[in-house]
Amino acid sequence: MDAEDRVVIRRATAQDFEEWLALFEAVAKEGRWIGREAPLDRVERREAFERGLEAADALLLVAELRGRLAGTLGAGLRLGIAEFGMLVGEPWRGRGVGSKLLESFLDWAQEKGAHKASLQVWPHNETAIALYEKFGFVKEGRLRRHYRRRNGELWDSIQMGRVLDQTSPGSPYG
Ligand SMILES: CC(C)(COP(=O)(O)OP(=O)(O)OC[C@H]1O[C@@H](n2cnc3c(N)ncnc32)[C@H](O)[C@@H]1OP(=O)(O)O)[C@@H](O)C(=O)NCCC(=O)NCCS
Repeated sequence: MDAEDRVVIRRATAQDFEEWLALFEAVAKEGRWIGREAPLDRVERREAFERGLEAADALLLVAELRGRLAGTLGAGLRLGIAEFGMLVGEPWRGRGVGSKLLESFLDWAQEKGAHKASLQVWPHNETAIALYEKFGFVKEGRLRRHYRRRNGELWDSIQMGRVLDQTSPGSPYG
């Protein structure tokens, strides 16, 4: 990788919307990696994008490579749990973009005082599971026949988490 291939991770701005949506749509069209399916609901995506920009407990990161949006990560803090979803466009995978997005997200979660980071992933998404395990996430359970796809199928989902607060006491009830 030369200097021009440097990945810049930054917070999204309002100007990123069209390129962000196109990136999201391209990955959704692949049909097997993320929860949302193409064609995306533009109004719902616009609302999610704006929440990511504006809400104090939300984060919307983009990864820029050679001036193009290569990936994105969206997160929200709920009950002290930082939940996130991420994607990298097909042409840019395997170059460390996902790792850099995840590092920035974990910094944010720590800053926000989250006690845990959490996500869901399709069981067949071995690349994503490998990435999460590299960052200390573990599989915590399998949600069976949990999500309905537009074609009527019901897909299982794997819940993964990484505990950030290892010192607070646990439940006294076992
Ligand atoms: C999963 C995803 C985000 C990874 O992003 P990426 O930029 O390709 O990841 P990186 O280049 O940082 O690689 C990180 C790790 O992922 C794993 N990985 C990457 N490519 C892989 C491959 N082809 N096969 C298996 N593991 C792979 C490795 O553990 C790798 O770490 P290493 O390079 O130290 O071995 C990306 O593939 C993607 O967006 N896929 C489609 C959308 C998606 O699945 N989103 C997640 C939904 S839960």
